[in-house]
Amino acid sequence: MGFKESPIGKLNRMTDTKTKKLVELRAEAMLGGGEDRIKAQHDKGKMTARERLDILLDEGSFNEIGMFVRHRSHDFGLEDKRYLGDGVVTGYGLINGRKVFVYSQDFTVFGGSLAEAHAEKICKLIEMAGKVGAPVIGLNDSGGARIQEGIVSLAGYADIFLLNTMYSGVIPQISAIMGPCAGGAVYSPAITDFILMVKNLSYMFVTGPNVVKTVTHEEISSEELGGAATHAQKSGVSHFTSDNEVECLETLRELLSFIPQNNLEEPPRIECTDPIDRADAKLDTIIPERSEKPYDIKEVITAVVDDGNYFEVQSEYAKNISIGFSRLDGRSIGIVANQPAYLAGVLDCDSSIKAARFVRFCDAFNIPLLVFEDVPGFLPGTEQEWRGIIKHGAKLLYAFSEATVPKITVITRKAYGGAYDVMNSKHIRGDFNFAWPTAEIAVMGAKGATEIIFKKEINASDDPEAEELRLENDFKEKFANPYLAAERGYIDEIIIPHKTREKLISAFSILENKVDSNPRKKHGNIPL
Ligand code: HXC
Repeated sequence: MGFKESPIGKLNRMTDTKTKKLVELRAEAMLGGGEDRIKAQHDKGKMTARERLDILLDEGSFNEIGMFVRHRSHDFGLEDKRYLGDGVVTGYGLINGRKVFVYSQDFTVFGGSLAEAHAEKICKLIEMAGKVGAPVIGLNDSGGARIQEGIVSLAGYADIFLLNTMYSGVIPQISAIMGPCAGGAVYSPAITDFILMVKNLSYMFVTGPNVVKTVTHEEISSEELGGAATHAQKSGVSHFTSDNEVECLETLRELLSFIPQNNLEEPPRIECTDPIDRADAKLDTIIPERSEKPYDIKEVITAVVDDGNYFEVQSEYAKNISIGFSRLDGRSIGIVANQPAYLAGVLDCDSSIKAARFVRFCDAFNIPLLVFEDVPGFLPGTEQEWRGIIKHGAKLLYAFSEATVPKITVITRKAYGGAYDVMNSKHIRGDFNFAWPTAEIAVMGAKGATEIIFKKEINASDDPEAEELRLENDFKEKFANPYLAAERGYIDEIIIPHKTREKLISAFSILENKVDSNPRKKHGNIPL
């Protein structure tokens, strides 16, 4: 009697063959464009798309979606090069235990270039992230539109731009630029909330050095035209600069720790071990005797916030204003602070735009706002007026005015003129407006004011110089203080500087369940 195979044995044998095929295909996908191109990527000092995901995500948390997607093009010999995944690794995973969706462009496949299938994978991911309510992160490393696929590549980009726009303010969207990002491709990162770049590795420009040379006859390197330093210092396009890819991905992880998963959630609160009533005596003497002398507002910030941890955003751009995330009693806050140590903390076009976008991000994602104010006013001059300081300053005014999150201001020293109104004053719905005893709240500085209103008296005097100084001191005595504003209720309380931390924690705590709203509208018309 011959051996008869059981039905289960037959099934196992079939499954083994089929499983083998799956395992082989997976192994093929893991290699992207092949070992030679992986080596070429490493030789350039760059990690592969998958290596980056390993560092970005919590260990073992990545689940890939669309590993077997291939392009459908038959032009220019593409039919023979149908790489699994089509040049982008997409999926979901965890960062510090919280869900994220992520795509990572694979430069080893057609230079990470984007075409129909590649774009479809990214769109599917953003849509899913939107439905689930989790952040979406893009690791960009791409030669741009896949030239062989032509117009469908452009369509793919536009599909992504639309979704970036639709989910703006719904889920956080973050772009890390880990290689080239040129042409229209730059507009997806530009619409997302934060851009991270790596020194000497990533660049972004609308047209590269060759086109620039042809059109404007300028000779410039990629790095100078659109490298990390350029966008951190000159254009203000990027928000964070890192020395290498690992540092960039770690920065991204830390950034997410301050941000909620979506616009319906509160930011995560962590346990705070820094005493709530910690009083830093340094704050009582940090304001210099002479009003025109600078000091570093970041010293104030770090003395007040939990563990002195200030996660600054755009630290190299428009340094006259500092923006960033911190925590008070474990709660995330967004900080906007005039910086007297740079251009006397004056408001100008760049600082207004920088701060306005940050304020809108925080408001969109329920992150309370804390303002440290020491501002002599808006920067005068033709350069600023002709660049449109009127509309740019209005952006910041608009952003603070429309924000409904808890909003607190601490005036440490100067609050002059229109800048007083703009910097989250009581009049534009500041919830608590505190001042230090060193605050000077007035229409303008004493010198300018006396020159205008006492011009006749000064000129008629036997000693105009002495008379001007006397009148200036009178003016300072009368107006350069916080008490007149407090009399009107524009300032809620004048606080001793070393009590600032305790005061702010208590104020943010009482505001925790604040509800405020704006009139119904399709959308406002921020002065762009
Ligand atoms: C198809 C591309 C590609 C692209 C690179 N590759 N860019 N394939 N479409 N856009 C391929 C190369 O053929 C090569 O394939 C591999 O990727 C690696 O490219 P290299 O040139 O060897 O790498 P490198 O020397 O590091 O140079 C990288 C690069 C360069 C600077 C990005 O490849 C380049 O200039 N590419 C073209 C960039 C471009 O003009 N893109 C279109 C922009 S317009 P093999 O098989 O040899 O590995 C655009 C419009 C978007 O994007 C509009 C949206 C609205």
